[in-house]
Amino acid sequence: MPARVAADPLPGIQRVDKLYLELLFRCNFRCGRCYHGSDLDRSEMVQLPQAVRALEYFSARFSCQQVCFLGGEPLLYPRLPELLAAAKGLGFSTQICTNAYKRRQVLTACLSYLDLLRVSLDGGTAETHDAIRRSGSFAAVFDTLDWANENRLPFGATCTLTAENIATVPGLARRLHELGARELILHRLRGVGNALETALKPVSWEHTRRLHTDLAELDLNGMYVNSHISLPRGGRRAVVSADFHRLPFKDTTFDAAIAAFCLYHASDPTTVIREISRYLHGRGVFIAVTKAADSYGELDELLAGLGLTAETSTRSSLYAAAHSANILPLAAPVLQIQQVLHAEHLFRFESLEHLAGYLMTTPKYAFSNAAGSDHRSLAEELRRRGCAIPVVASSTVSYLVGVPDA
Ligand SMILES: C[S@@+](CC[C@H](N)C(=O)[O-])C[C@H]1O[C@@H](n2cnc3c(N)ncnc32)[C@H](O)[C@@H]1O
Ligand code: SF4
Repeated sequence: MPARVAADPLPGIQRVDKLYLELLFRCNFRCGRCYHGSDLDRSEMVQLPQAVRALEYFSARFSCQQVCFLGGEPLLYPRLPELLAAAKGLGFSTQICTNAYKRRQVLTACLSYLDLLRVSLDGGTAETHDAIRRSGSFAAVFDTLDWANENRLPFGATCTLTAENIATVPGLARRLHELGARELILHRLRGVGNALETALKPVSWEHTRRLHTDLAELDLNGMYVNSHISLPRGGRRAVVSADFHRLPFKDTTFDAAIAAFCLYHASDPTTVIREISRYLHGRGVFIAVTKAADSYGELDELLAGLGLTAETSTRSSLYAAAHSANILPLAAPVLQIQQVLHAEHLFRFESLEHLAGYLMTTPKYAFSNAAGSDHRSLAEELRRRGCAIPVVASSTVSYLVGVPDA
């Protein structure tokens, strides 16, 4: 009987910083763009022991130490104070994300176990917010924030951006800052659930750019705003062709850079990594992806066995300059390394044409004879020499994540 191997439920994930746990679907609101849509009518909910088991699992398996409870409306969850107490007992920093509509008794019962109250605000004016939520709900949120201040409960806000409310966000940021909010988290509208039915418009590139400029001009010292939120699809893009040892960008221009399957073509990979980190912001992320030096070694053996290219195995690896084993020492002088992951991949070539097409594109396999003149001739030659399919080749793909060294 084959051995049973426990599947890794989140392959490649080593650490989860924050867990968002939806406790129930029920809600006292029916917001015009709620992504839950008709699920808001479902009555089932996560049971307290299940929620605690999830916390224990994420803490033990992924070193997770922050949880945000939401739903539906978490203030309708019957055992919320007990759950928050259990989370605190497990060492979690706790948050709830709520519409903050009344329910003061429940909030009071949660007070001792809550590290941050996160309220949802859909604009900086009653007009924009109440149009999405319900009449009087904007004022109700600010009543709740006054209550939080009276009880010294730290709070922040979440705002989902739409074309209708984005111009009110700088005013909202100013008001929250004056009240002492810790953070304002901006979200993009997801076109699911009720958002499919309503006429709300997603923000444009120009809206977002203006918001970035307006927020940058405000003095929000002490309040975090994720003004780097990703820009809408269909925004401006530019294709630039340049030598990546010397890129034509100003310093600290970009939020993120990905160098995928290319560093091994560099004559000096560390110079390239330094050049790419130069144009990242201080909080920018750099991701490098490469392969193991001995990737596809099976193809070397196959070709040598068929007598096709005896010399291939003595040629240096295509990945010699930057591979799984040296990517860390190459990047370490330039980046603060956050994570390096290695994942095994298998490639199956189901036809000789597919295999020949791949071999033709790989400089390592420079076929000198007529068989290599095009991929059809090569497939024919492979067939003539008895190459069996499928052909399976393996490779380790390695991912390095780092931030520019300050
Ligand atoms: C589903 S609600 C649940 C918690 C709570 N009822 C509340 O409104 O804060 C969680 C967050 O998702 C946001 N949200 C709802 N529908 C959304 C959508 N279509 N796209 C993006 N965010 C959405 C809400 O504004 C809220 O900040
Ligand atoms: S966004 Fe929150 S408050 Fe509004 S309907 Fe959805 S779950 Fe309820």
